[in-house]
Amino acid sequence: MPNTPRLEIQNIKRQFDGLNVVDDVSLQVQPGQVTCLLGPSGCGKSTTLRIIAGVDMQDSGKIFVDGNLVCDTVFRVPPEGRSIGLMFQDFALFPHLPVAQNVAFGLKGGYSTNKARVDQLLDKVDMLRHVDSYPHELSGGEQQRVALARALAPRPRIMLMDEPFSGLDNRLRDGIRDQTLEVLKDEGAAVLLVTHEPAEAMRMADEIALMRRGKIVQQGAPYNVYNAPVDRAAAAFFSDVNVIRSQVHNAQAETPFGRFLCPGQQNGRMVDIVIRPQHLRIDFDRDGRGPNPTPQDGVPARGVVTRARFMGSESLVEFRMDYDGSILKAQVPNVFLPQVGTALWLMIRRDRCFVFPSDV
Ligand SMILES: Nc1ncnc2c1ncn2[C@@H]1O[C@H](COP(=O)(O)OP(=O)(O)OP(=O)(O)O)[C@@H](O)[C@H]1O
Ligand SMILES: [Mg+2]
Repeated sequence: MPNTPRLEIQNIKRQFDGLNVVDDVSLQVQPGQVTCLLGPSGCGKSTTLRIIAGVDMQDSGKIFVDGNLVCDTVFRVPPEGRSIGLMFQDFALFPHLPVAQNVAFGLKGGYSTNKARVDQLLDKVDMLRHVDSYPHELSGGEQQRVALARALAPRPRIMLMDEPFSGLDNRLRDGIRDQTLEVLKDEGAAVLLVTHEPAEAMRMADEIALMRRGKIVQQGAPYNVYNAPVDRAAAAFFSDVNVIRSQVHNAQAETPFGRFLCPGQQNGRMVDIVIRPQHLRIDFDRDGRGPNPTPQDGVPARGVVTRARFMGSESLVEFRMDYDGSILKAQVPNVFLPQVGTALWLMIRRDRCFVFPSDV
């Protein structure tokens, strides 16, 4: 069978106290691919991972590794027989063992029998010179890299990682993420990484599975999930969003920024026009007049700056809009930092806005 997924889970369900914590989740991960399970706290990510690892048990659904069933509700391969490596946030190295023996811990015969493999991995994570060090002699980032080598030592076919970078400070994190990714790709494992940070998922993932209240609501390449969100909440999970609400007439919604097409929406339906702050265009006020409307940017609407924050690579500017007093947020390149009280005109890029039926 071509392209048998390395890991496949089908219709996994798990209840706690009558609540569907994992609610019919299906996923596939190919060898050498990184899939991120991304979602807010409590949505069921870790529970899904624990079920795949075999340390928790699903109420229903199946798990396959390389096309072979490892667990359904009758049959169950124990965790150690699944060829799955684990790396969790609170990865603990054994404090009384040097790095070499930490990495060799899961291997038959220890370090002396597996020196070549252990040294190769330590070299890959750039820790070979610390082979005789003890964990307390290493920085957080260094310990993390040893933990990665340890998880990879038995050549797992699948790596499950649960927020493995959240204990590291920001600057360290980016470097370690990139290096970890390189080593994982090199080893050819299929990776399922859990995170609640969109930036981490975008940086690491070939594919993102967006999870909410126990369900996967959208799945795809980071570019697609970001640029074609399935609903307002999916859009808002990745950045701040501005929402302009309107009512549909003849498949169009009239707003202070002009008309938006709402194909397939019934007359009278309320819709949300959703736009990320970086896709608002700002223009100057010319004695109470704004720029001319264009097909790409629609009609301008005027607002007054209520807040402007310099963030380094960009500025965040908030406006109180003349038309109804609502607040819109724009993100602009840092050279532009308007004063509070300035009147400016905003336009909405048509090709960057999303139109969804309002859910309230
Ligand atoms: N053993 C358990 N008994 C009862 N409830 C549980 C158990 N394990 C998890 N839950 C509940 O299931 C829900 C999902 O938990 P889970 O740990 O999977 O969330 P998560 O998505 O990993 O969140 P976070 O990002 O905060 O780690 C939570 O409401 C949690 O309280
Ligand atoms: Mg969790």
